[in-house]
Amino acid sequence: MPLNELQNEQYKNPELHKEHKVERKIRTDTAPSLQREDEEIEIKLRPARFEQYIGQNKVKENMQIFIEAAKRRKEPLDHVLLYGQPGLGKTTLSQIIAAEMDGNLRITAGPTIERAGDMAAILNDLNEGDFLFIDEIHRLNRTIEEILYPAMEDFSLDIIIGKGPTAKSIRLELPRFTLIGATTRVGLLTAPLRDRFGVIHHLEPYSIEELQTIVIRSASVMQVEITIRGAEEIARRARGTPRIANRLLKRVRDFAQVQFDGTITEEVAQSALDRMEIDKVGLDTVDKKILEAIIFKFDGGPVGLDTLASSIDEESGTLEDMSEPYLLQLGFIQRTPRGRIVTRHGYEHLGLDIPNDGQMGQIGLKG
Ligand code: ADE
Repeated sequence: MPLNELQNEQYKNPELHKEHKVERKIRTDTAPSLQREDEEIEIKLRPARFEQYIGQNKVKENMQIFIEAAKRRKEPLDHVLLYGQPGLGKTTLSQIIAAEMDGNLRITAGPTIERAGDMAAILNDLNEGDFLFIDEIHRLNRTIEEILYPAMEDFSLDIIIGKGPTAKSIRLELPRFTLIGATTRVGLLTAPLRDRFGVIHHLEPYSIEELQTIVIRSASVMQVEITIRGAEEIARRARGTPRIANRLLKRVRDFAQVQFDGTITEEVAQSALDRMEIDKVGLDTVDKKILEAIIFKFDGGPVGLDTLASSIDEESGTLEDMSEPYLLQLGFIQRTPRGRIVTRHGYEHLGLDIPNDGQMGQIGLKG
């Protein structure tokens, strides 16, 4: 689609903008005003329909077929599991799926459901054709997860009344709903839960071209002028994720408006991103600290995740979820059974000499 058409596309079809009913069950963060403004923009930037959704073409095409088939049969959509790195749009995709099926979406997350009663209440509150989105579904505890099995399979809820030998189980019928589970760690899902999803999709990192198109679309929604090269510069440093691309766009816009004439050109984007210490391929200061710690503190590795994390004063979970996937994707680090190592590409990126064969030979990599 030509860029000017793309920029106008959301204004042409008011149907695409129709507010879709989304109920948020979790809202735990109290946001300072910049963050709140960002969140408001973020909601506006989210594509509401497949027509506006850029990237993930295979997932999109398949989902459109499953949705069309379910609609023709007048049946709920089968349960959907979406997995992939943070920021790839699992929530956005769920909102689109629900909207395309004309269903309401309830949003919740694994860690917020603490008791079996919480899960039962959420299920009992659903209406026919509703969608229940459970983010971080791998973090549901086992007892709670077991409530989901009959709910997903037979749309029923088994409730135990009383305790001990007189306890009785009663079965409640639930309306037919669709569960959408999202996870960054599909390997942590138990087999019985995973097997109950009829549709399983892996979301891939976005290409630079896709991110560039997303940045142009977002700039148009935010009514910010941007050049194609300006959008490409942001896309190159967005680590394959739309969430980061949009976040960088918002901050580059601030620089463009305060220090330049408001238009995001390649030079403006470069200057702003350099000042934010985001390098040419999107590495931030934490990523660089990780690479440098492996190289200088642990002789290039291997080093275990926890040791590495504490050496740079970060949490190992943050490292594993936020930094490591992209460093692995770029091929700057590798995971070995004995820990993380920096690869030749990692040294090259930092402009460092690659250690002699003897050192890299220990870990089976030759310079
Ligand atoms: N904003 C965030 N993700 C997007 C996507 N996949 N397509 C269009 N705009 C987006």
